[in-house]
Amino acid sequence: MDFSKDLSVVILAAGKGKRMKSEIPKVLHRICGQPIIYYILSLITKLNPGNIFIVVGHKKERVKEYIENNFPGVTIVSQDRQLGTAHAVKMVKEAGDGFGQEMLVLSGDSPLLSAGTLQKLVDSRASSKSSVSVLTSIVEDPSGYGRVIKKGKGNILKIIEEADASPAERKINEINSSVYCFDTRSLFENIEKIDTKNKQGEYYLTDIVEVLIEKGLKASSLIAGDHLETSGINDRYQLFQVEKVVQHRINKKLMEGGVTMKDPRSTYIEEMVVVKNDSVIEPSCILRGKTIIGKDSVIGPFSQITDTVVGQGSRVNASVIIGSRIGVNNNIGPYSYIRPVTVTGENVKIGAFCEIKKSEIAHDSKVPHLSYVGDTEIGTGVNIGASTVTVNYDGFFKSKTVIGDNVFIGSDTMLIAPIKIGEGAVVAAGSVVTRDVPPNYLTIERGRQKNIKNGAIKYKKRKHDQSGR
Ligand code: UD1
Ligand code: CA
Repeated sequence: MDFSKDLSVVILAAGKGKRMKSEIPKVLHRICGQPIIYYILSLITKLNPGNIFIVVGHKKERVKEYIENNFPGVTIVSQDRQLGTAHAVKMVKEAGDGFGQEMLVLSGDSPLLSAGTLQKLVDSRASSKSSVSVLTSIVEDPSGYGRVIKKGKGNILKIIEEADASPAERKINEINSSVYCFDTRSLFENIEKIDTKNKQGEYYLTDIVEVLIEKGLKASSLIAGDHLETSGINDRYQLFQVEKVVQHRINKKLMEGGVTMKDPRSTYIEEMVVVKNDSVIEPSCILRGKTIIGKDSVIGPFSQITDTVVGQGSRVNASVIIGSRIGVNNNIGPYSYIRPVTVTGENVKIGAFCEIKKSEIAHDSKVPHLSYVGDTEIGTGVNIGASTVTVNYDGFFKSKTVIGDNVFIGSDTMLIAPIKIGEGAVVAAGSVVTRDVPPNYLTIERGRQKNIKNGAIKYKKRKHDQSGR
C-alpha cells in the first residue's frame, strides 16, 4: 500500500516530554531497542508519501543526528521555542515547500499506529469532503488526552485539552489521537488564527477544529478501530505499556514465522533480531541488537544474547553472549559469559562457568568447565581442562595465547601469555606454563609429590594434643 504523492506528512517531535523526567529527548527513549520515533518514521517512509517533514526542537541536535543517519529522506524543520502543536505546524508552513494538497499531521510519540488506520483517515476526509478529519479513540481512561466534543453522537465540534476541560467534559471518553488529515490549504490559511488563550498558554493545534468550523468549513472525525493504536507516550508508565504491545507484536510475528516460544510474556526480543524457524526460545530470554538465531536452535532459559549470530542447531543455556559469532551445533552454558569478538567453529562446546573474550575456537574443540579464555586462538579438536586460565594481562599489556590443533590442556593450568602451545602437545594438569611448547611435546610444571607413611596419623595426633580435643 502506498500513500498518494499528493499527500505530505508532518510529524511533530519538538516537545520536551516533561513527564518523562529525563535528560534524553522523549522520542529517543527506546522501545524494544529502537527509539520511539523509529516506529512512526519507518511506517511513514514505507508508505512513500510525496514528502515527510519532522519538527524537532528540544535537544534537537541528538534527534536530528538520529533522523539524518537513519531516515535520510525526511526533511527536518526546527522549532526552537516549543510554543505548542499549532506553532510546530506553522514552522513547517514557513520552512518547507512542495506541499501536497493533503497533509497528514501526527505526533512522534504514538508508535502503534497502523498503515490501514492512517489510510482510512485519509479516505474519510476525502469522502466526507472535510477540511480536516481527526482520528479519535474511545478509551477506558481518557486522562491526559484532549477530549472530543461532538454534537450529539455526530459531528465533531471541538477538542478540549484536559487542563481546560470542565468536570463534565473530562468524563468524555472519546479522545483526540493527535492524528489529523487536512486539506493543506485550509490548514495553512487558518493556522495563524489560533491563539494561546488556554491554561497552558500554548498554541494548540486542536483549536483548528473550531477555527475551521467558524469559517464554515467542514470538520469530521474517525474513531480508530483499535484504541491501542492511538496510545501516546508521555511518561514512563505509558512507555512500558506501549513496549508491552510492541513486544507482543514482535513475538507473535516470530511465532507465525515458525519459532516456538515457551513463554512469550517473559521473552524480550528487540525489533532488529532475526530468529529462524524451528528454533525454541525458552522462558526469560533477552535477545538484543543485530542478533540472528539460526534454525533448530534452543535458546535459554535465562539467556541474554546481544549483537550475536548463533549458528544452526546450537544450544545456549542460561548464558550471556555479546558481539560474537557462534558456529553451528555449539553447546553453550549453563552460566557462561561470552564477550565481544569471539568466533567459534562447528561443534564447539563451552560448558559451565566459562568466560571467553575476543577468542577464536575452531571446530570440535571444548572448553567444558570453569575456565577463562581471553585473546586466544584455539585450533580444532582441542580440549581445555577444567579451571584453565589464559593469563593474558600483566597489569600493563594484553598478550595472546595460541593453542594448536589437537592439544590437550590438563585441568587447572595457567598459560602465561604471550605463549604458543604447538599442535598435538599435552600439558599436564596443574602446570604454570611460561615458555612455548613445541608440537607433540608433553609439558609438566609442578612440584614433586612426597608420600609420607603414617604421616596423617602423626599429624592428627599432634593437632589433638595442641587443641586438647
Ligand atoms: C496532544 C493533543 C491532545 C491529544 C494528545 C494525543 C494538543 C494541544 N493536544 O496532547 O489533544 O489527546 O496529543 O497523544 O495538540 N510538539 C511539538 N512542538 C510543541 C509542542 C509539542 O513539536 O511546541 C510535539 C511533541 O513533541 C509531541 C506532539 O507534538 O510529539 C504532541 O505534544 P504533547 O505535548 O505530547 O501533547 P499532548 O499533551 O500529548
Ligand atoms: Ca503526547
